[in-house]
Amino acid sequence: MVAGIGSCLPSRCVTNAELERTMDTSDAWIRARTGIAQRYVADDGTRTSDLAVGAAERALKSARLTPDAIDAVIVATTTPDRPCPATAPTVAARLGAGPITAFDVAAVCSGFLYGLATASGLIASGAAERVLVIGAETFSRILNPEDRSTSVIFGDGAGAVVLRAGEADETGALGPLRLGSDGTGVDLITVPAGGPPRPGETAPADSADRYFTMEGKRVFWLAVQRMGECAASVLDRAGWQLEDVDWLVSHQANHRITARLADEIGIPRQRSVGNIAEVGNTAAASIPLALDHAHAQGTIRPGDRILLTAFGGGLTWGAAALTWPAIDPV
Ligand code: UT7
Repeated sequence: MVAGIGSCLPSRCVTNAELERTMDTSDAWIRARTGIAQRYVADDGTRTSDLAVGAAERALKSARLTPDAIDAVIVATTTPDRPCPATAPTVAARLGAGPITAFDVAAVCSGFLYGLATASGLIASGAAERVLVIGAETFSRILNPEDRSTSVIFGDGAGAVVLRAGEADETGALGPLRLGSDGTGVDLITVPAGGPPRPGETAPADSADRYFTMEGKRVFWLAVQRMGECAASVLDRAGWQLEDVDWLVSHQANHRITARLADEIGIPRQRSVGNIAEVGNTAAASIPLALDHAHAQGTIRPGDRILLTAFGGGLTWGAAALTWPAIDPV
């Protein structure tokens, strides 16, 4: 069950008006096509692990736990500090959590739900009792400043939850969770180069290949379809009717996607809660950031039934049922 939550944003806020001055775009286009008004961008000295540690410390505080009570740290990220090793051991060490299990999960914007599923498995197997699941990104580092279709959308940030062993009927219980992938769509959301040379690669990869690319239009409809199907399957397994769902919290990709998704599932749009206007699309950090902000604002309350769903590169997707716990906002 969820025992604590926290988030962390870099200090620099970049408004649409600021982007208008540096690229061929407009505040009106960005708001109308995505719902985004601003995003946060890490400065050169801030790494993904810095944001992850900030979010984790707040999550621990809200769970009223000290770092030594944690058995594992999972960091879901697309933008690790380094290609090798994983970022999670750095985060665990900086938290002072001791020599515990720590590893990263790579599922792009679905990463947080993949992390939650992995943490549940660690708890169910007895390998851990309390796990920090962190979604953290410095996505701005992989954006192509020449590509206005991605540069205006993504932002940096981190969100974290403490997951602990508990009973299925407890407030805060994580219910059924489903995940999926379709690797035939690998090229739709990708950083084509940047790791070891690709097979057959003789010349250095074109520099544009080192940046994130997305076929936005195709991804839009696949996102609605896959999140809709996965969320319906989780509802079914949870035994929840549509009217039982207090809040839909979906990956904050685009306000038009979240609206269409609510229609697709059959949940009134006003029961879809998010913060894309304030933080943009923060990839793996998106769901815990949206949950933390909704919790801090008092929108989601103890006992509320929440349907989570995400979609991202891979392609990957997932959905989960969650009953909101009684925890202190930090
Ligand atoms: O997080 C992982 C999952 N991600 C998603 O699910 C994202 C899914 N896709 C989307 O959110 C949307 O497809 C985008 C926001 C990326 C793009 O919106 P769109 O409505 O699909 O726009 P489009 O790509 O079809 O472009 C429409 C027009 C084009 O101009 P023309 O060809 O009609 O003259 C683009 O060049 O908008 C233009 N455009 C822009 N104009 C101003 C593209 N980006 C911008 C921009 N500012 N930043």
